[in-house]
Amino acid sequence: MTLSVADRIFVRVSRFHTERIAAAWGGRHLLHGRRPVPGDVVLTSSDYLALAREPHIIGAMCAALQNYGGAAPPAGIFVHGPDHPQIALEMALAEHMRAAAGILCQSGWDATAGLMQSIADPHTPVYVDHIAHMSLWHGAKTAGAPVYSFRHNFPGHLREEIRKYGSGIIAVDSIYSTNGSRCPLTQICDVADETGSVLVVDESHSLGTDGPYGAGTVVALGLADRVPFRVASLAAAFAGRAGFIAANNIDFVDYFKMESDPSVFSATLLPHDIAGLAATLEVVRVDDWRRIRLREISAIVRRALMALEFDLEGSASHIVALQTGPDQRTIAIRDFLEARGIFGSVFCWPATAPERCLIRFSLHAGLTDMQVDRLIQVCAEVRDTFGAIAPYHPDQPRSVTNPAQPSLVPTS
Ligand SMILES: Cc1ncc(COP(=O)(O)O)c(C=O)c1O
Repeated sequence: MTLSVADRIFVRVSRFHTERIAAAWGGRHLLHGRRPVPGDVVLTSSDYLALAREPHIIGAMCAALQNYGGAAPPAGIFVHGPDHPQIALEMALAEHMRAAAGILCQSGWDATAGLMQSIADPHTPVYVDHIAHMSLWHGAKTAGAPVYSFRHNFPGHLREEIRKYGSGIIAVDSIYSTNGSRCPLTQICDVADETGSVLVVDESHSLGTDGPYGAGTVVALGLADRVPFRVASLAAAFAGRAGFIAANNIDFVDYFKMESDPSVFSATLLPHDIAGLAATLEVVRVDDWRRIRLREISAIVRRALMALEFDLEGSASHIVALQTGPDQRTIAIRDFLEARGIFGSVFCWPATAPERCLIRFSLHAGLTDMQVDRLIQVCAEVRDTFGAIAPYHPDQPRSVTNPAQPSLVPTS
């Protein structure tokens, strides 16, 4: 019997419920544990600089709501004029990141996928680090580009792939969102220069936290002139709901706004988003103490967890993850952590390889010493109860992988 389209869709939906929730997860949602209550240590948000409750920012957003209301915004393509608050913020953010021009987008996904869609094409290979963010893959695939993954943080493998398939677009994250490892950006830049390729760096997890005044890793490493495109989610250290593209060519702005699907076909930001982000930029620039505190805490946590023999997969930042492995083991560890007041974000397939889950702790500048001690103490209890290393199947690649890739490359 041939199933109708509606039946085929329903089969997929019910398979999710029977195979994942009921069978793999034992009837409980892998991502939904208990809800935090006051006093818990919540490490699920990427508000790394602890800005979400900053009165200056909230005040700016409230004033904008009172002045402009929540007026339904047009698509970004219609916004123009240097005195328009959105354009003024684009220029301020571009200056902050030492770029020639900038474009605000509705989200980091829209910025990244929209950028890749508008610069890639079917004749240009795109090389993406194996664990780079899905939005980079998505945009390249939307453009019909041939996409090749290269071994995580392995410029030599990138160079080999470019030798095989030709110069193209290289896409990396400055800090990788699943394990907090840092991209060897200078070496990747060298490969881009040597091979005549164009580099895109996703600074979602470094804008605000790294570099002078929080200008990001590319600026910190003195590479601003060598990286033609940078993107960032402003839902991380900027604690908002937007994305940004920093470009080294001012003419790119009008091109992007007419060429990227999210820019043409989707409403842009609201006035209070813009006001909040403009106020956030002021705080980000001035409050160096937040970056200093974040760095201190992150170093303490990484050192302690490595001493407990957890494999942090090269974390060198404020993102620190426990590799928890199989789904059921992850649920048990999540419950154990939450019962002791520690909340991390569970990552599972399709954000990791199947049965290669992790629990990510996004550290932030607002953590007290006592909270940091508690996190470490509870992780020690996790180690004593479950062991530090997840029992992986020997055939599975050791590192987090992006299952959406055409060619999976083991990274160990
Ligand atoms: C590296 C990276 N790029 C892009 C995005 C997408 O950002 P947004 O959540 O603002 O759409 C994220 C968020 O998950 C991310 O971690």
